[in-house]
Amino acid sequence: MADLRNTFAGIRSPNPFWLASAPPTDKAYNVNRAFEAGWGGVVWKTLGEDGPPIVNVNGPRYGALLTPDRRLLGFNNIELITDRPLQTNLDEIRAVKRSWPDRALVVSLMVPCTEAAWKAILVRVEDSGADGIELNFGCPHGMSERGMGAAVGQVPEYIERVTAWCKTYSRLPVIVKLTPNVTDIRAPARAAKKGGADAVSLINTINSVMGVDPATLVMSPSTGGMGSHGGYCGPAVKPIALHMTAEIGRQRETAGLPISGIGGVGNWRDALDFIALGATNVQVCTAAMTFGFKIVQEMTDGLSEYMDSMGFETTAEFQGRALPTITDWQYLNLNSISKAQIDQVSCIQCGRCHIACEDTSHQAITAMKDGRRHFEVDEAECVGCNLCVTVCPVPDCLTLRTLAPGEVDLRTRQPVPAQAADWTTHPNNPMRRSAAV
Ligand SMILES: Cc1cc2nc3c(=O)[nH]c(=O)nc-3n(C[C@H](O)[C@H](O)[C@H](O)COP(=O)(O)O)c2cc1C
Ligand code: SF4
Ligand code: SF4
Repeated sequence: MADLRNTFAGIRSPNPFWLASAPPTDKAYNVNRAFEAGWGGVVWKTLGEDGPPIVNVNGPRYGALLTPDRRLLGFNNIELITDRPLQTNLDEIRAVKRSWPDRALVVSLMVPCTEAAWKAILVRVEDSGADGIELNFGCPHGMSERGMGAAVGQVPEYIERVTAWCKTYSRLPVIVKLTPNVTDIRAPARAAKKGGADAVSLINTINSVMGVDPATLVMSPSTGGMGSHGGYCGPAVKPIALHMTAEIGRQRETAGLPISGIGGVGNWRDALDFIALGATNVQVCTAAMTFGFKIVQEMTDGLSEYMDSMGFETTAEFQGRALPTITDWQYLNLNSISKAQIDQVSCIQCGRCHIACEDTSHQAITAMKDGRRHFEVDEAECVGCNLCVTVCPVPDCLTLRTLAPGEVDLRTRQPVPAQAADWTTHPNNPMRRSAAV
């Protein structure tokens, strides 16, 4: 029987599904309702230092990339950190934690990059009874122009320094939330670890511009006729977040550093991807903003059923299991050969596979046979690229088959070798290593 209980950076929660720091965790009213719905934990909407309240725009804060049938693919925002007074938030945090002692309550923080500013807020947060802190080094708009958020997250030395201050002035676990707006996520992750971070979480949002209104040629959405880049998130960013998660898990210096996976998690399958690639838990924002708090029920039920079907009792049993299956391109087995195949029974003869392969791949799918519409793969041309599988509208109608060793590849007329061979030893590689070495 699956046991979803989770411990992340020493913080316990009844399941690995947390709400990310964002509007869903902005106030006690929301967080209480989220916990009633079954969320295992929350990271409270980012708090800033005491002082004049944060000012948000009074126009559209959000934009979206939708499919033609209005399903949300990507989400963009130009919202800042909390615009509610610090003490109000801290009082609510204390009350919520008292009401929900079994749930994780982590507080996200972003203050100016000075030791005094961090010391001052850490004392007050620790006093609130929160379970941990998450350092928001990620917001790509508004706060970064004031030297906070991504402006810190893009400079590893700053990450290390601020993390070390937090470890000095707080006993709470420190989670460093990374920005994806860097060329190589491994450097900030290393800096977080060097600074003493207990864990990292990623990703925060990606710099983005959503588009232009065709009637006015003004950036859209706009506030009074002008727009600004915002942070992109939602289903479309998941592959980017997974890659970064795996890079941190694969890197020797950061292997084993606990990771909270964020970015496009909308169901239990998404969570499984993150956990199998090394995350201990996941955080969710856009999916909760689009569908409401109750989506967590599908997440916990789905993950439990999956674990039961696989014989896993805890998530630790499959955490990171897919990491060893990720390598660099040069080590892929060039002797592994695949061919597309079409199930003629389920094919609806729409022709999409033919057009895609004919126009942009290897002209390997027929459109006609004996004067009738008929779609069939010509293995003598097929390179197994997967394009037709991707465009076919019928599930499992078009699949790839891997040829067995010894089977003849009709394209090269050579039998498939039994031994694997990669680019490092390929005869066409001028830099190849001798197979004997
Ligand atoms: C409207 C909005 C506001 C956000 N505010 C914050 C914030 O205050 N602090 C923070 O660390 N991340 C903030 N985020 C980023 C989310 O916590 C999360 O990292 C990101 O949305 C990716 O997750 P998702 O794809 O599930 O939305 C915000 C995201 C959105 C959409
Ligand atoms: S796998 Fe690629 S090459 Fe083969 S039939 Fe499909 S689109 Fe064409
Ligand atoms: S895309 Fe799929 S359903 Fe359409 S013709 Fe090709 S195999 Fe058949």
